[in-house]
Amino acid sequence: MIGSEIIHFKRVDSTSNYIATLLKESKVVNGLVILADEQTEGRGQRGAKWQSIPGENLLLSFFIEYKQLEVNKQKHLTQAVSIAILQTLYYFQVFGKIKWPNDIVIAHKKIAGILIENQFQGKNIKSSIIGIGLNVLQKEFETINSTSISIESQASVNLKLVLNQLIYQLNQQFILLAQKSFDVLEQNYIKSLWLKDEVSFYEKESGEIFKGIIKGIDSEGKLLIYRDDLNAIETYGLKEIKFTKRNVQ
Ligand code: BTN
Repeated sequence: MIGSEIIHFKRVDSTSNYIATLLKESKVVNGLVILADEQTEGRGQRGAKWQSIPGENLLLSFFIEYKQLEVNKQKHLTQAVSIAILQTLYYFQVFGKIKWPNDIVIAHKKIAGILIENQFQGKNIKSSIIGIGLNVLQKEFETINSTSISIESQASVNLKLVLNQLIYQLNQQFILLAQKSFDVLEQNYIKSLWLKDEVSFYEKESGEIFKGIIKGIDSEGKLLIYRDDLNAIETYGLKEIKFTKRNVQ
């Protein structure tokens, strides 16, 4: 069970790094959660830094082992974690969406980020270290593109309440994963995609900006966008597309 053991640090380099070190020393138990008030080297996706005012937000990682999870089921991990975060927000009357592939946003503003690092054995994912940064109490950010539960909600909120809810929701979603209810995970994920079925603008790697409508994801988890100008659905991988507020020139 996720959260069967929780270790809480005032300060650590990165909660995910801490689990990785325990793993190397074979000292990690399934479901272990590492929580920190502050990270000195918090890591985001694609080598970015994850910054947070000490004590104001949830910074945690957990370790999870799988009985048998094939590599091609990797996208369902993202789905399970994203949905758990959305359900947690929903509990506090915050209605988030998933910005493909795994940012949690309220309109253009990010409220949570997910960092999944898998350990493989042959054709299977043996285990994962899953890091979550969820903005809870922070009211001021360096960029205009961030927000928090406190900013978005009228409900009374504290870190402990959010932590308990998040752990509960993660367990719910990982039960679905263990039961191999992949279709349920995928349907809930697609339903919650930000800008799904709405006209918006996207930028290709080449710099070309086009108008399109998100329709879902393919079997590999790539984004499917309908292009009006081509009257066709195109498939985009992670580096091949950017969300943009700009209009077509
Ligand atoms: C992203 O870039 O969107 C992912 C951010 C993930 C941040 C969390 S905070 C807890 C855990 N420890 C880290 O160093 N990173 C993740």
